Amino acid sequence: MLWTVFLLLNGLLILILLYSTRTRQTNEPPLDKGWIPWLGHALEFGKDAAKFLSRMKEKHGDIFTVRVAGKYVTVLLDANSFDAVLNDTIFLDISRHRNQVLKRTFNLQMPSIKPAEERKWMEQHFQGLSLSKLCTSMNTHIQNLLLSDQKDFGSSEWRQDGLFSFCYSLLFRAGYLTLFERRDNMTAVYKEFRKFDGLLTKLARGTIRGEESKTANLSRERLRELLSPNLLSRGSESESWQQSYYRFLQKEEVDTEMQSRALLLQLWTTQCNAGPAAFWFLGFLLTHPEAMKALKSEFRGLTPQDTSLQHHPINMLEAHSTPVFDSALKETLRHTAAVMIGREVVQDKVLRMANGQEYHLRQGDRVCLFPFVSPQMDPEIHQDPQTFKYDRFLNDDMTVKDKFYKDGIRVKYHTMPWGAGSNMCVGKEFAVSAIKQFVFLLLTYLDLEMCDPEAKLPPINHSRYGFGVLQPDGDLQIRYRLKRTQHAM
Ligand code: HEM
Repeated sequence: MLWTVFLLLNGLLILILLYSTRTRQTNEPPLDKGWIPWLGHALEFGKDAAKFLSRMKEKHGDIFTVRVAGKYVTVLLDANSFDAVLNDTIFLDISRHRNQVLKRTFNLQMPSIKPAEERKWMEQHFQGLSLSKLCTSMNTHIQNLLLSDQKDFGSSEWRQDGLFSFCYSLLFRAGYLTLFERRDNMTAVYKEFRKFDGLLTKLARGTIRGEESKTANLSRERLRELLSPNLLSRGSESESWQQSYYRFLQKEEVDTEMQSRALLLQLWTTQCNAGPAAFWFLGFLLTHPEAMKALKSEFRGLTPQDTSLQHHPINMLEAHSTPVFDSALKETLRHTAAVMIGREVVQDKVLRMANGQEYHLRQGDRVCLFPFVSPQMDPEIHQDPQTFKYDRFLNDDMTVKDKFYKDGIRVKYHTMPWGAGSNMCVGKEFAVSAIKQFVFLLLTYLDLEMCDPEAKLPPINHSRYGFGVLQPDGDLQIRYRLKRTQHAM
């Protein structure tokens, strides 16, 4: 027994030494192992990835390798070199790490599914006629929910709420009705989903313990039950997005257990970003009066004088161009969308940067792009990057500004809220349409103000870097009521 323990400890020590003794070889990116054996920079990375990676960028430049919990991760922060990673499907692998995260987070394993097939299925449903049906349905649900949520209150009565809860709840419910078409358990799903979403980052990183772990597992099971399909209760009318996805999984021979886990993943993918994005958008508008004024002025140009909420043409926004709106939304997402794009190095690779410099990457390491730090918050690309400028993406003649430069060279990706390459968001058009419709209806038909006119936006919850649109730590208290004259904006 003693010998076994001794041998195990020796093995462990050798492993630690092996990992700790890695040194930078010729042509490899700068190596920063951190001072904690094996863990390296894991704690700092998990606590606030943006702060940590900005510090590393200051120290090492646009490319460097850091040790994170026994893994070596090469971080690339030069947007003009991103294609060398995004387009490489031979030396870099997209699925391995993703599959591990899906297993940890959703208990999901679907070896029979080919990612390209699933992607094709998704794309079909978020483009052309299917997309326009989904957008119309979403817009109707947003409008109806907004109305029905008000109906118990007198028209002149103010209601108070946290802006984050308000936006997340309404857009989640509208999205759920659109894609899952089930009204019976909508509120229960939302409540359970928020519980699960609150623990998701710890689940994904594998750092969840004790009571929280129990809560997360229970919540995941409960959501799986709530999402189990109600196929038999439906008649022969056209099938919902969810039912169609189910059929796809059945065709791909995914077993029943995994089917409902996959549905939970889809619920999260399709619902976790739009509500938080709408929160930041409205939050920036409420705390930047010049932006709110410019947007309302653009709306006045769109709104016919004789509409009422019940008869409002929901495709009003689609029929007009809205340059101020589009720029302000893009600016919101530049500040708050923080995806991490990861790949596993499956064969030693030479990475050629846009400036011609070449770096060797080792098999077994990971590569990570974090567009939030650069290009999105890079002061050499976006002047004064911490400031919200609603017209940052507008030229003087109100055309779209899409030329941004670093060191005199045009930057190919100047902001990347939707990701890029083969994993880019397939729901982009749908999400933009939903957020715009939601904000438009809210500002057109509600009086909306902050409870404290001097209030500031709550800080960012730093643990969510890498998980799509960021969430706040706390909320912004607002009050709202139906406008008496609906066009007095
Ligand atoms: C502001 C809102 C949204 C943002 C910023 C956003 C952003 C993203 C990003 C960055 C990815 C890539 C994730 C990765 O590489 O790991 C992604 C994937 C995806 N998004 Fe969105 N998203 C939003 C809303 C939506 C909505 C409303 C839907 C659908 C209803 C949607 C559907 C999807 C799907 C299906 C994928 C997976 C694509 C794949 O794996 O190939 N997204 N999204």
